[in-house]
Amino acid sequence: MNLKGLILSGGTGTRLRPITHTSAKQLVPVANKPVLFYGIEALRDAGIKDIGIIVGDTAAEIEEAAGDGSRWGVKITYISQEAPLGLAHAVLTAEQFLGNDSFIMYLGDNLLRDGISDLVESFVKNGPEALILLQEVPNPEAYGVAECRDGAVVQLVEKPKSPKGNLALVGIYMFTPAIHECTRAIKPSARGELEITDAIQCLIDKGKRVEPHIVQGWWKDTGKLEDMLEANRLILDSLEGDIQGAVLDSEIHGRVIIEAGASVSNCTVRGPVIIGKRAVVHDSYIGPYTSIDCEVEIRNSEIEHSIILAQSKVIDLHGRMEGSLVGKNVRILRLDHKPQAYRFMVGDNSWIGIV
Ligand code: DAU
Repeated sequence: MNLKGLILSGGTGTRLRPITHTSAKQLVPVANKPVLFYGIEALRDAGIKDIGIIVGDTAAEIEEAAGDGSRWGVKITYISQEAPLGLAHAVLTAEQFLGNDSFIMYLGDNLLRDGISDLVESFVKNGPEALILLQEVPNPEAYGVAECRDGAVVQLVEKPKSPKGNLALVGIYMFTPAIHECTRAIKPSARGELEITDAIQCLIDKGKRVEPHIVQGWWKDTGKLEDMLEANRLILDSLEGDIQGAVLDSEIHGRVIIEAGASVSNCTVRGPVIIGKRAVVHDSYIGPYTSIDCEVEIRNSEIEHSIILAQSKVIDLHGRMEGSLVGKNVRILRLDHKPQAYRFMVGDNSWIGIV
């Protein structure tokens, strides 16, 4: 069976604003690597070489970051979606690319600990019309929800107000070309989107086999700040320490990655932590679950459980920063001249908590 990959990387990232005012939500890094790249790697590891990426307004940025795929040994084709009209609309848009092949659809903001290799194998072996991944969640109303009976899916509803059960649809789906008849047949939902959830329901209504798989390892949809920080924590937890950069007069505890060209001096670093290329960290405490991206500068500050994006500076912060996501090229500094006042230049939809 010839299998293709389809990664959905269009849409807008409203829940991660202001970070996503200037960059695609699928490119926000987790442990210093864009979320999108984890999806590409999961497909590659499952033996898929031909990957289509659905792009929207942020197409240029995504194409620049992922390129032609050769660095992963895969071929990437970019497919432009006119507007984020829904996940099933994305499949309609990709029909020509997909042709008569079965495919794995992977939402570009999803992260799955255990990859998909075993599931792809079972999809090929068992031959259902669709294979869906499910996981129990405490807030099913925020997801597509599946109702299962005797190991079979009986009903799927997108973001129901009163969910029947707590099994959420994970954003990774496997389809045969039978899905196309359904993506063409469905109508837009109440939120105005062509829902893949409805297209799968249409397969069920036609009596086609839709196989459910409960995901045991962790799964994260990184659409919101808390989920992003949690994904960062989970990925950092799985990495081994590796010190390539310069370390001077510092205490390094636990699993810490310091990339080439970075310098850490007069610091205490308590892993799991990643410090990116050419970052400078001086006179500071970096605590567990912190990702510091390349060319960041941290001086005389304390940071933990946070993500700091490239080229930002945090200098002379008195309180400890935690649970924070700091965008690219941000400056958080202490001013030594009068008036002694807070001064902000903060983008739309930002928020700041002070002590
Ligand atoms: O994360 C799992 C959930 O993903 C499922 O439980 C839901 O059933 C499913 O509808 C989806 O819900 P979201 O509201 O989280 O989807 P979101 O709009 O965030 O889009 C997911 C990805 O697909 C994201 O990377 C943007 C991209 N996308 C989205 C739309 C609507 C596109 O490329 N094109 C689109 O038209």
